[in-house]
Amino acid sequence: MTEDFYSEKVMEHFQDPKNMGEMEDADADAVGEAGNPVCGDMMKIYIDVKDDIIQDISFKTFGCAAAIATSSMITELAKGKRLKEAYHISREDVAGELDGLPDAKMHCSNLASDALKETIKNYLREKGREIEGIPLEEE
Ligand code: FES
Repeated sequence: MTEDFYSEKVMEHFQDPKNMGEMEDADADAVGEAGNPVCGDMMKIYIDVKDDIIQDISFKTFGCAAAIATSSMITELAKGKRLKEAYHISREDVAGELDGLPDAKMHCSNLASDALKETIKNYLREKGREIEGIPLEEE
């Protein structure tokens, strides 16, 4: 995508983010976070999992409009998915669902997919589990 401006979808998710806020400890099975080295912004994602399916998900993001919109969109994409499917949601999937991001903001979508991956890995580590295709060792 080579847009210069935010799409309508980005604006919708920025102005009315879905699944925003911390999840209570009692409900969250795992939390993970990612930081963006380019700008210093941060995102945390919380998941509630049953039978390897993400039942509920929420986020807390300190970042720009694109970071808020991508957080909101990734939670919508991941909710109801199996852990393995959710792990493979890419930054391009998120940007595509938002009808693209300005080139200068593509790095912001890394935060969402990195934070979700970290959360899923933390869940598996805490449960002492492994799922093929999800590397738990630090790369
Ligand atoms: Fe930091 Fe967008 S400028 S995540």
